[in-house]
Amino acid sequence: MRQQIAAANWKMNLDYKQAKTLLDTILAQQIMLEAHRKVVFAVPFPYLRMARKKTKEMVNYEVSAQNCYQKKSGAFTGEVSVEMIHSSGARYVIIGHSERREYFHESDQVLAEKINLALEHRLTPIFCCGEALSIRESGKQDAYVAEQLANSLFHLTPDAMQKIVIAYEPIWAIGTGKTATAAQAQEMHAGLRSVLARQFGQPVADLIPILYGGSVKGSNAKELFSQPDVDGGLVGGASLIAEDFTAIIHALK
Ligand code: 13P
Repeated sequence: MRQQIAAANWKMNLDYKQAKTLLDTILAQQIMLEAHRKVVFAVPFPYLRMARKKTKEMVNYEVSAQNCYQKKSGAFTGEVSVEMIHSSGARYVIIGHSERREYFHESDQVLAEKINLALEHRLTPIFCCGEALSIRESGKQDAYVAEQLANSLFHLTPDAMQKIVIAYEPIWAIGTGKTATAAQAQEMHAGLRSVLARQFGQPVADLIPILYGGSVKGSNAKELFSQPDVDGGLVGGASLIAEDFTAIIHALK
């Protein structure tokens, strides 16, 4: 079975003490994960090491950064490299979140550079794609997300592509309480998988987890995750609430 992943994206929230308490509360549930299931905590940079220390003893619990810089090292004051992230014990990195694309003007080309560096340093990229409301209203969402994939991922070999996790996050559903319906999510995920199949072959496309993101909550996760091409979620707001996030972990296929 394809990997099923519950990923928490804390974004820029929680102080250090709150972060520790949230992790402790979730991990205290001792939710056992079968081999095909994973829980990933995408925490702010200063918390990577602490989060790894706390999750280390638990099987299939991993830590992720929320971003990385597109250069290996050097005079880039304030930036964080993939090497730093890997050496802190994290094994995932979110690349191309819509908030990075919008507020920090990250282009498809820059994201392709980040993808390459992450793979070179054995980090699994969680590559985000998704359309704004205006694009959905004009009915062009399929072409739009296909182009996001093409521009940042199609230079990869099928072997490299197998190491990527995709997150489909419609911007109109992020932090708005407006979730895509399970049917809308399934339709987009199936479409993305066929785009991947055309470029990399069906066997590779069948292996790639495609997560849904956008107002996933404890109450709607089960329905979303039950869709055949929805392989878990990338969760913002609800991942800051222990009870909600544990329900989301339990909702994994
Ligand atoms: P919300 O779950 O708060 O809508 O955020 C989704 C998201 O952006 C996860 O990366």
